[in-house]
Amino acid sequence: MNSSWLDAVAVRVSRRSFEPEAPRGELLDRLERVCRDFRPFPEARAALVRDPVDKVAAGIIGSYGRVSGAPCYLAFIGRMDSARVQECAGYTGEALILEATSLGLATCWVGGLFKPAAVSSRLGLGENEKVICISPVGYPKAKPSLTDRTFKVIAGSARRKPLEELMEGGRVPEGGMKAAVEAARLSPSANNRQPWRFRADGRTVTVFTDNGKREWKLSRRLDCGIAMLHFELGARAAGLAGEWEFLEAPKVARYVLSATSFS
Ligand SMILES: Cc1cc2nc3c(=O)[nH]c(=O)nc-3n(C[C@H](O)[C@H](O)[C@H](O)COP(=O)(O)O)c2cc1C
Repeated sequence: MNSSWLDAVAVRVSRRSFEPEAPRGELLDRLERVCRDFRPFPEARAALVRDPVDKVAAGIIGSYGRVSGAPCYLAFIGRMDSARVQECAGYTGEALILEATSLGLATCWVGGLFKPAAVSSRLGLGENEKVICISPVGYPKAKPSLTDRTFKVIAGSARRKPLEELMEGGRVPEGGMKAAVEAARLSPSANNRQPWRFRADGRTVTVFTDNGKREWKLSRRLDCGIAMLHFELGARAAGLAGEWEFLEAPKVARYVLSATSFS
């Protein structure tokens, strides 16, 4: 884990309209290295594709809602024969999003509006592997595009639920645990639906999904994986080391503090 990722949590926002200028070679080499080296779970990985995102982006109607202009993109790939593929893909993908942010590059998780076959043809996919999401990578246009501004209104992008609403029984933990769930609260999610809920209980924090009915074609466990990474960055920065145990639906995973976090 990179120590700059927690700083990136505070400044990251989705951008959908990009300058065609390619990021300097060493920045892309760096992203490629993190794609290769950050593989905390065998069922998910990320890959950088040095090809314009316009070749694989789609719009809601024509080009409306489309991400455009970025000279390259990240692909987030999962092994679909694993029950925990969604949360692992969210966790792994968000690390690359935060790495790109810390390198001064803009991103946007894209789950719906892309052509999976066109992305797959650029990658060597293994058995059972699928491209779950992509993200454009590059320098954003100086002024947010109409699509960016529309998403801000429709998805309420800038808004996040208060912590009390995310914690079971409204019980907000104190100290380092509070900082950790606060970092999770700032996570991006599809349509800004923020489906993650938390139960803090002494030495563990359990992440589970809300009971929202609409999946918007994307698993809420994917969003929860993103929040798990944010949570862990906040926890570790507060000296609360721990490990994830994966759980069955509607639970997602439990962060178990290591014994040293109590000494
Ligand atoms: C899994 C996932 C899928 C997303 N899919 C799309 C998408 O298809 N198109 C899009 O424009 N934004 C997409 N978003 C971006 C969200 O709309 C955005 O993260 C949310 O509104 C919060 O705004 P912020 O990222 O600026 O904080 C996606 C985000 C996530 C996490």
